[in-house]
Amino acid sequence: MAIRIAPAAPSREQQSRMYERATRVLPGGTDSNFRAWGHRTIYVDRGQGGHVWDIDGNEFVDLRMGYGPVVLGHGDPRVDDYVNERMRRGVSFSLTSEDEVRAAELICELTFCEMARLTVSGTEATMHAIRVARGFTGRDKIIKFEGQYHGVHDYALISVLPTDVTELGDRENPVRLAWGRGIPKAITETVIPVPYNDLGTLRRVFEREGDEIAAVLIEPVLGNAQGILPRPGFLEGVREMTREFGALLIFDEVKTGFRFARGGAAEFFGITPDLATYAKAMGNGYPAAAFGGRRDVMSMLPEHVSHGGTYAGNRVAAAAAVQVLTILRDTDALGTIRTTGERVQAGVEQILARRGLAHVFTGHPSMFGVMFTSELPSDYRGWADTDHELYDAVAAGMIVRGAMPEPDSREPWFMCEAHAQGDDVDRIVSIFDEALDAALEERAQAAAESLPARPDPRASAG
Ligand SMILES: Cc1ncc(COP(=O)(O)O)c(C=O)c1O
Repeated sequence: MAIRIAPAAPSREQQSRMYERATRVLPGGTDSNFRAWGHRTIYVDRGQGGHVWDIDGNEFVDLRMGYGPVVLGHGDPRVDDYVNERMRRGVSFSLTSEDEVRAAELICELTFCEMARLTVSGTEATMHAIRVARGFTGRDKIIKFEGQYHGVHDYALISVLPTDVTELGDRENPVRLAWGRGIPKAITETVIPVPYNDLGTLRRVFEREGDEIAAVLIEPVLGNAQGILPRPGFLEGVREMTREFGALLIFDEVKTGFRFARGGAAEFFGITPDLATYAKAMGNGYPAAAFGGRRDVMSMLPEHVSHGGTYAGNRVAAAAAVQVLTILRDTDALGTIRTTGERVQAGVEQILARRGLAHVFTGHPSMFGVMFTSELPSDYRGWADTDHELYDAVAAGMIVRGAMPEPDSREPWFMCEAHAQGDDVDRIVSIFDEALDAALEERAQAAAESLPARPDPRASAG
């Protein structure tokens, strides 16, 4: 049964002070543009299981889970104790440890990959996968999908997440929209954006410039539009077309890898790409990442394609990957996460059905979204037609009440294994219920206030 939580605006005294202090030395008061929420920027103290505490002592059920990596839970002793033990032997040698070999063996055991290399971020993983694909095919161009985020290198920041989707241009001939300044025009010209779920546009691009296209880089779901799923046949179509035109297929599994299934979205959807990138869930929050794939493609390394990194395969990340991947292989953690996500969805569904509010669920139960719309969007442009303002108001209301989704209607809710414990599911659902009530009330009030004042009948009398 859902429990009621009294809404209480969390104190921000310490955080306001920290914000003032931080903005003097960190642009936006933080280390990532995505965490720069102005005066609402959150300064974290600690996390445990499915919960986080800010430096004012406010506790939240965490639905961001660090943008997805924390798949087991914050501070999981199974991982932390192992990493601690391994790191006492030294962390950084720029020599290769058994932890790295073991991590790559586990990646190859759990996924389609025959070989892999470790990196320390998803950004690096996609950057290197793109380069390997270019090296292998001898071609320069990459196709990506609108609304897909693949990290912060220049080749990834094209047609990512504009708030005004008209900036993406004509859907049959989309604009190459660089995100922010500093991305050379010459680079944008090598990246061709296509709307997700649109095989027609993809084919037109291949027919126009197929002999220059090295790879299609795709996140199997639209992870930055609440996890919108591929339509039946879409991923199969992309796979076939890449083969037809001699391009490689790169799955960006930074969010979906070791989360949707042990073998990631490739296993979940039954499609085998040529290369894939992994990060997030493989380290439960430690900076472990990788790219891997077919042996013949990966064998471009080390002779023909550059890849390196002082911290690539560092002890902390590699040990974390070994332990997390072993846990995911040997336990039913992913099954637990899926069931927990389904329980949250069922609770949210009941609330929305009771109110008769049009909605659709998107994504996988371990990483899902709810959109206020009657029609399931099929691409990033479709997100703009949903009632995302209502979603944003609900998300902000949830944070005030003690559950923390990203306050942006594009980011899914991430579930972790530890959310199955205690009353987390009931808390999430009841907090959603109250935040929705408050957002709808606020909207009704604003609508009433914006009505033209009724003419005073006495004014016209006589
Ligand atoms: C699908 C996808 N690819 C790549 C990245 C970049 O990963 P990182 O933030 O580790 O550089 C992200 C990050 O959110 C992502 O979601």
